[in-house]
Amino acid sequence: MRLPAQRRRAANGSVWLKYIVHDLTELLERARSDIAASGDLRSLDEVRVRLLGKKGAITEQLKAVGSLPVSERPAAGQAINRVKQELQSVLEGRRAELERARVEAQLGARSVDMTLPGRGQVSGGLHPVTRTLERLRTLFERAGFSVAEGPEIEDEFHNFEALNIPALHPARAEHDTFYLRNGTLLRTHTSPVQIRCLLEGKLPLRVIAPGRVYRRDSDVTHTPMFHQLEALAVDTDISFANLKAVLHGFLQAFFERELDLRFRPSYFPFTEPSAEVDMQCVICNGAGCRVCSRTGWLEILGCGMVHPNVLRICGVDPECCTGYAFGLGIDRLAMLRYGIDDLRLFFENDLRFLRQFN
Ligand code: PHE
Repeated sequence: MRLPAQRRRAANGSVWLKYIVHDLTELLERARSDIAASGDLRSLDEVRVRLLGKKGAITEQLKAVGSLPVSERPAAGQAINRVKQELQSVLEGRRAELERARVEAQLGARSVDMTLPGRGQVSGGLHPVTRTLERLRTLFERAGFSVAEGPEIEDEFHNFEALNIPALHPARAEHDTFYLRNGTLLRTHTSPVQIRCLLEGKLPLRVIAPGRVYRRDSDVTHTPMFHQLEALAVDTDISFANLKAVLHGFLQAFFERELDLRFRPSYFPFTEPSAEVDMQCVICNGAGCRVCSRTGWLEILGCGMVHPNVLRICGVDPECCTGYAFGLGIDRLAMLRYGIDDLRLFFENDLRFLRQFN
């Protein structure tokens, strides 16, 4: 390749161009053979840098154009750029070739056996508690109830006071409460949702409120978190008979069989009268077994007519409206429906257990 200094010595413009074209032709030829000779992507890249890099041959040529007579510069520039483009496409062609060869070599080395059986797909399933909850929701929605929600972090007003459980009431001791800061707590039951619905002031009401509740408790039948479903109906003439009918209909639909129910007088501060409901044991059909402690009955939920104090606190006149409420454990229903004898299994996430419900 001629040096710019030699060019500068030449007298005549067209001679400049001849030199340049001669240089370029040589350069192009050499470059082509270098490119063809590079056996892998790395050495090809080295060639590219030598030609087109910051200090590459083509770049140097372009820089030298500045020292040519002004009239010669356009033609020289064009000639160099044409070669540059040519080189770029030759480089790209070779790069693609080498890349393809690399992939083919890789595939050849790691041969794929198309005849092997596939790995298959394992599909997940819903948690038994979720399935139970969905079933409950469907049944109650069919009976005209809508779903209400409330926060799991509650305050004393909604969880206790408005439910007729003032600060020193003995019933507070029955709720082993997780207290948080600033007078907040983890709700110990879904009954505070009753308060939230009543306070909204829209009557008549027919709602269910399923959700997580928390108590400081842990053994075969208790976990610190469990699921309850609350139901509340308030209207101008709701009676205990309505409550009985709804419970009977719902439990028979849920367990898909005829069932006897038994109402035992009980006490909840927020209902009056109150009752605990037993149903005929679904395991032994009332004959007596381990699950029902040989009584033939299973305690299944708490219920009652909404206490006038609760209605009053929420701005509802107990003289013109009455209501019933009940609360049940969703996990317990799931245990009975699926024949599970340890509540903790629901929360251990053992796949061998969960897979049985897919
Ligand atoms: N909240 C009560 C409990 O957790 C259940 C209940 C709800 C009882 C509604 C009566 C009416 O034990």
